[in-house]
Amino acid sequence: MSVYRVKSCWIHCFLQMKEKSFSCDRATMQWSLFLLLLMGQCVFITCQLYEYHFIKEQMSWDEARAYCRENYTDLAKVFDLTDMRRLQDSAQSQTEAWIGLYSEPGRDNRRWHWSLPGEEYTENKTCWGTGEPNDRPYPENCVRKKDKWADAPCTHTFPFICYDETMKDNKTFHLIGEMKTWTQAQSYCRQHHTDLASGLDQIYSEEFKELLNSKASKVNLWIGLFRDTWRWSDGSNFSFRYWDMDSFNDGLNNRTCATTLLERSGRWSSAGCDQRKPFFCYDVKLDQTSGLICS
Ligand SMILES: *[C@@H]1O[C@H](CO)[C@@H](O)[C@H](O)[C@H]1NC(C)=O
Ligand SMILES: *[C@@H]1O[C@H](CO)[C@@H](O)[C@H](O)[C@H]1NC(C)=O
Ligand SMILES: *[C@@H]1O[C@H](CO)[C@@H](O)[C@H](O)[C@H]1NC(C)=O
Ligand SMILES: *[C@@H]1O[C@H](CO)[C@@H](O)[C@H](O)[C@H]1NC(C)=O
Ligand SMILES: *[C@@H]1O[C@H](CO)[C@@H](O)[C@H](O)[C@H]1NC(C)=O
Repeated sequence: MSVYRVKSCWIHCFLQMKEKSFSCDRATMQWSLFLLLLMGQCVFITCQLYEYHFIKEQMSWDEARAYCRENYTDLAKVFDLTDMRRLQDSAQSQTEAWIGLYSEPGRDNRRWHWSLPGEEYTENKTCWGTGEPNDRPYPENCVRKKDKWADAPCTHTFPFICYDETMKDNKTFHLIGEMKTWTQAQSYCRQHHTDLASGLDQIYSEEFKELLNSKASKVNLWIGLFRDTWRWSDGSNFSFRYWDMDSFNDGLNNRTCATTLLERSGRWSSAGCDQRKPFFCYDVKLDQTSGLICS
């Protein structure tokens, strides 16, 4: 658990160090890591570790949030799959329970996110094609890439590229030729690799380009960029989503609070916020992991 936390701190630390400017042809992230290691720097890291609490009492989403805010920090937020496992481990029954994710439906409330946890979306680190994203036909909430990017309905099917942080078969990127919807592609990548390829550092890296040149330079591929109207109760902009395929709805209906289906491997669904359910809170344990990391 603490190993994971250190890793996620690394990610945050990393993001802060990344250069501000970026061109679509250069991968600066690997470069800055290389420089950091070369200079033999040490980094002092203090982490906020958070803990999940399962509350059996059934409440509406708003009541649950008030309860969590008074007695802990807030309704539970989830940074990645490792957090999700921890959340499930803290459950005391296999039902459906609220988490701190809610939706503000509406076309203008959507925000872009990278699928890979910790990769932050910023406007000027994008490679949209001319006139894109055009959101026609509304809603186009997922992104396909040929040379440049275009938004597309998430229900369309394309081949896709997975990112693999463990370098399975010595490869960082894996081109999957099967046609899948965006959510199916995301699920496939998380199951077999790490996630859909996310962020300019990955998508414009040499290895990624080589893969495309050799195999798929002229076809549309899903990348790990999507937009939705979901927000975390405490204001975090965590991009991790874990929707159950059957109940995934693109945030277009009026069930605007999220639950975790503990009996269905924890995947998320949406429900009317007035329903009464058990829920998860989190609280912050300050300075539980801190330490010096040297290259
Ligand atoms: C990136 O965008 C922000 C505002 O969105 C702007 O202030 C900043 O100058 C931009 N940076 C570059 C390198 O274009
Ligand atoms: C906080 O917890 C206590 C004891 O479990 C409970 O009585 C109280 O109602 C909770 N606060 C809120 C706002 O629900
Ligand atoms: C991975 O690459 C290393 C060095 O480039 C090589 O020694 C090793 O055999 C490769 N492993 C696989 C599974 O291809
Ligand atoms: C996301 O959260 C981080 C850390 O709190 C913050 O620095 C960043 O500005 C946020 N990004 C957006 C797009 O809100
Ligand atoms: C919104 O929810 C209500 C019940 O809460 C339901 O009757 C109505 O049909 C829903 N509307 C849409 C557009 O989903």
